[in-house]
Amino acid sequence: MKFFIDTANIEEIREVHALGLLSGVTTNPSLVAKEKNVSFHDRLREITSLVKGSVSAEVISLDSEGMIKEAEELSAIAPNITIKVPMTPDGLKTVHYLAQKGIKTNVTLIFNANQALLAARAGASYVSPFLGRLDDIGQDGLQLISDIADIFNIHGLESEIIAASIRHPLHVTEAAIRGAHIATIPYKVLMQLFHHPLTDKGIDAFLADWKARENR
Ligand code: E4P
Repeated sequence: MKFFIDTANIEEIREVHALGLLSGVTTNPSLVAKEKNVSFHDRLREITSLVKGSVSAEVISLDSEGMIKEAEELSAIAPNITIKVPMTPDGLKTVHYLAQKGIKTNVTLIFNANQALLAARAGASYVSPFLGRLDDIGQDGLQLISDIADIFNIHGLESEIIAASIRHPLHVTEAAIRGAHIATIPYKVLMQLFHHPLTDKGIDAFLADWKARENR
């Protein structure tokens, strides 16, 4: 499973990019709205000059004509821009059009397996099931990952599954076990993945033993 970061914050992206494990970035209108004093297009320029993998930029139009116009402007920013569209008939019409033009797409706001199957058949490069938001309403987000992975395997569908709306490290482990190709993870959760109390304890013990040796 590959790691994407789910943010429009350039400092967070820089920090995680420096760790060498970043395969891409996803943004959405809410994440972009948190960023002050920078235009959406300028921020995408900054991100794509740093990250060479897929960078998802979401359209805000609801009709396919508007989505395609936005998609053409966004994809002119850099070759690694992926156009993120909502899971609607107009969204999938846009996916179908962009796939024929060789432009990558990410279908977002997927909450059941049929939606993922429709998006894959329309030619989506990525499908994004939202784990956390399903958990929030008492449904099983992780089961959805397993179901989509099974369906894509059975039918030889090539769209990649991005586990999205990740809330904690266990979501990441389980998404990997269940066959998500990618997890898009907020900065805070990504940094939590590094930690284990026995790692900290082990480092402290090694340093203490080293110091004791120097003092002998
Ligand atoms: C995915 O691409 C979305 O940006 C994201 O994962 C949404 O997560 P949220 O439910 O934390 O807003």
